[in-house]
Amino acid sequence: MQSVQVLSFPRTTIGKKVIMALTGILWIGYVVLHMYGNLKIFVGPEYFNHYSEALREIGAPIFGYEQLLWVIRLILIPAVILHMWAALSLTVAARKARPGNYEAKRTLAANYASKTMRLGGVVIIAFILFHLAQLTFGMQAVLPGFEAGNPYDNVLIAFSSPIVVAFYVIAVAFLGLHLYHGGWSMMQTLGWLNERFDRLVRVLAALLGLVVAVGFAIVPIAVLLGLVS
Ligand code: HEM
Repeated sequence: MQSVQVLSFPRTTIGKKVIMALTGILWIGYVVLHMYGNLKIFVGPEYFNHYSEALREIGAPIFGYEQLLWVIRLILIPAVILHMWAALSLTVAARKARPGNYEAKRTLAANYASKTMRLGGVVIIAFILFHLAQLTFGMQAVLPGFEAGNPYDNVLIAFSSPIVVAFYVIAVAFLGLHLYHGGWSMMQTLGWLNERFDRLVRVLAALLGLVVAVGFAIVPIAVLLGLVS
């Protein structure tokens, strides 16, 4: 009986919210480390390219070349898929439960936040696919001149286009908002929120969103302005 309950937990509303919170935490960890790593571009090309190479060798000598990186990828990819699945099915369930327009005023603020989260989610996933095509897969159609093993120059080429920079800045602004609202709701879902800490958690979530958005946006803007060359 109990095992049946455990198996059906992910299908419940709270189960889906817990899935969103846990997969969200994994991505927050990755995003913060990636943002910090990107700032190494200001140190110079050798340092940045060496850092990128070192990422492929993490865990050595226990792990072989790129092995641990693949472990991380194999955690992050299902995490983002589960996150999207839970978000989608919670949205569908909420729509079914709210056929009319009753209580429209009371839920206005909540609707605004969740609409921004949904739009943000779509922008972020589109951004990640474009970003991977550019800087990981090096597809010539989206990054002519991509050179494997030379992320420094690849970043310089990518951000020589104001349109690409604008897209990056918009995407990381949405990411910042997503982390602000998502960070706060995650704490609520996991039951780590009470009235006393609500304000503090909101401030910390806002700080996380702001630091991540600004920390990411600095690189494309600096490259476009010729501050990194
Ligand atoms: C806005 C500034 C950003 C810059 C300059 C940047 C730069 C890079 C570079 C150079 C790579 C290739 C690294 C390598 O091959 O060694 C990369 C990979 C990647 N980036 Fe970003 N990135 C940015 C934002 C983001 C954001 C906001 C996300 C996620 C929300 C993200 C997710 C990823 C992922 C998933 C990879 C693939 C990592 C792998 O599995 O090899 N990046 N990024």
